[in-house]
Amino acid sequence: MRDQQLEHALDLCRGARRINVFTGAGMSAESGLDTYRDATTGVWSHVDPQAMASIDAWARDPEPMWAWYLWRAALSRHADPNAGHRALAAWEQLPGVEAITITTQNIDDLHERGGSSEIIHLHGSLFDYRCTICSRPWRGGVSLPLVPDDDTPAHPAGPSARLRPPRCPLCGNLIRPGVVWFGEPLPEREWDAAERAMASADLVLIVGTSGVVFPAAGLPRIAAELGTPILEISPEPTDLTRLCDYSWRSTAATGLPALVDALAGLS
Ligand code: APR
Repeated sequence: MRDQQLEHALDLCRGARRINVFTGAGMSAESGLDTYRDATTGVWSHVDPQAMASIDAWARDPEPMWAWYLWRAALSRHADPNAGHRALAAWEQLPGVEAITITTQNIDDLHERGGSSEIIHLHGSLFDYRCTICSRPWRGGVSLPLVPDDDTPAHPAGPSARLRPPRCPLCGNLIRPGVVWFGEPLPEREWDAAERAMASADLVLIVGTSGVVFPAAGLPRIAAELGTPILEISPEPTDLTRLCDYSWRSTAATGLPALVDALAGLS
């Protein structure tokens, strides 16, 4: 006997062919990566975003930021995709599904490693690096710090206070992380693709985002204004809940596998 919440979610999802999944940090929480705004464990409760995620801070003193982003890349690589990431990849294989686009605010690589094939990174990636000035992609590789295998929680601030970024072979300026910092524009190509994905979907899922950071958080409104069914999977209400046809009190690694198994007729 399936629970009522799953039944309600299924009613929205059955028969969907072009699905757009809008994800945030909560998608990776069950992989052991901290979300941003949780009052006690959130990244921003340990680290000042203006000091570690702004272009002004980078111009002032890049070495602490370079160390921190390498640490976060190491944490992401040390984490494993969870059952929610894997369920989204499995959904792509179900009969009748044409495409599942992941529109993510996350900078980790867990959707890729979980097997999804169409991923739009609105806020960049921990594994892309480019020249601060000429934007030439950095192909020189980086060495990530070691993450202890024991269960001690890896501190979000990381072990090294400062590391020197490499220099661009073309213009000699510093190589920076390929992520979007506060006050910076989102990448145009990804933004256009995300708008198209929202407008062309016949079902939108929202998983693991508080919906408070714009312009990304404005994307689901495109689907809402078209009357596209929107299902949210979140342990608590969010700023996007009011746009949703149903907000399922569940988590990424519990709700998504249950939903995809039921859609596959496995449960
Ligand atoms: N499953 C699903 N959702 C979860 C889970 C889980 N296991 N755990 C937590 N959540 C929810 C939280 O309830 C919260 O609503 O995930 C959301 C995480 O919200 P934030 O920490 O604000 O992260 P996010 O919405 O991704 O932040 C957006 O803000 O700082 C910037 O660039 C950064 O991309 C980030 C953006």
